Amino acid sequence: MNKLIEKEFNQQIKLEMESAYLYMAMGAWAKAENLDGLATWMQAQALEEMGHAMRFHNHLLDRGAQVRLQNLGIEKIKWRSAVEAFQDTVKHEEFITSRIHFLVDLANKHKDSPARNFLEWFVKEQVEEEATANKILADLRRVGDSGHGLLMIDRELGVRPIALPVLGPTEAGAGA
Ligand code: FEO
Repeated sequence: MNKLIEKEFNQQIKLEMESAYLYMAMGAWAKAENLDGLATWMQAQALEEMGHAMRFHNHLLDRGAQVRLQNLGIEKIKWRSAVEAFQDTVKHEEFITSRIHFLVDLANKHKDSPARNFLEWFVKEQVEEEATANKILADLRRVGDSGHGLLMIDRELGVRPIALPVLGPTEAGAGA
């Protein structure tokens, strides 16, 4: 595997784990604010992000490349409102999307077909993640940040199941 792609895939493991940390922090904040549904949604999202990190991790292993774990740098622990939390979520997902597109360009530049194929899943996933976060943000803005509307949205967010993520290969490169 090209050394620059290896380095940037390692960086992406860090960014996906930082995504998990960010959503765990938002979940903890939401729980303290009695927004239990939002807390559940964020915990489910955090688990998904760990799955994203593991997909990159497993792809590196299956290519015989080096996994280098790094320190995580998420420090924010408080938000003024659910709207602000989802503004940050949208901003963060837009950043992750730009990273995925950067990785696709890199894989194309170095004619790395396995990496490009691997990244296809993430291209689709980011469309979904941005759309979901934008929809929730729009709903929250519509109802304002207190009262009955917020309670309704919180209930809706709370039905998201907390499930273990799909990690992608390995088991020696088998599977999806
Ligand atoms: Fe792994 Fe939410 O991007």
